[in-house]
Amino acid sequence: MQRIVILVSGRGSNMEAIHQRCAAEGWPAQVVAVVANRADTAGLRYAAAQGIATAVVDHKAHASREDFDTALADVIDGYAPDLVVLAGFMRILGPAFVRRYENRLLNIHPSLLPAFPGLHTHRRALAAGCKAVGATVHFVTPELDHGPIVMQSVVPVHPGDDEQALAARVLATEHVIYPLAVRWFVEGRLRVEGGIVSHTGGASQVLL
Ligand code: GAR
Repeated sequence: MQRIVILVSGRGSNMEAIHQRCAAEGWPAQVVAVVANRADTAGLRYAAAQGIATAVVDHKAHASREDFDTALADVIDGYAPDLVVLAGFMRILGPAFVRRYENRLLNIHPSLLPAFPGLHTHRRALAAGCKAVGATVHFVTPELDHGPIVMQSVVPVHPGDDEQALAARVLATEHVIYPLAVRWFVEGRLRVEGGIVSHTGGASQVLL
């Protein structure tokens, strides 16, 4: 059984999607803990209601980014994870933390990376006149919203779309690609060579 720890900062809808698909599809894995950097999050409430272990590591209680990262890693390591999943975790993690979980730390970002790393991705895509947008699951490297791409989803931009409409359209696809990417990881189907990820069976990693 692969042990998955999921980190959230808020709503936790991607965490919920991963947890539900893991149970429904019988992955060789289990979500063993959900960890948040804030106590009052919908994500933590969902996890607790499902009987998943929860923990809070409050970034405001730590003097430096390094101290926070160390405290967070100590809590995570208490659950002995095979995979750490960032699901709407809105803190930047330092290089020591990222190296500690090298090749077993996944993130989802609501843009077609390498376009639009950072915040306000949908607003920036609209301002740039993009005709298609999407989401990216990637292995985490010390560079923000960067790293070997595991899977992407692509959706159209319709005339008259605002930021909220785009965010909702992209989020619906996040709930498909993130569980699938995690499933492939726990099934040992992902290979990373020279910064490029492939599926051992040659499956397509773009959802259109
Ligand atoms: C998702 O759209 C995710 O892609 C984004 O935050 C949202 C979290 O929603 N992540 C980032 O922007 C990370 N750079 P959720 O809490 O409902 O899963």
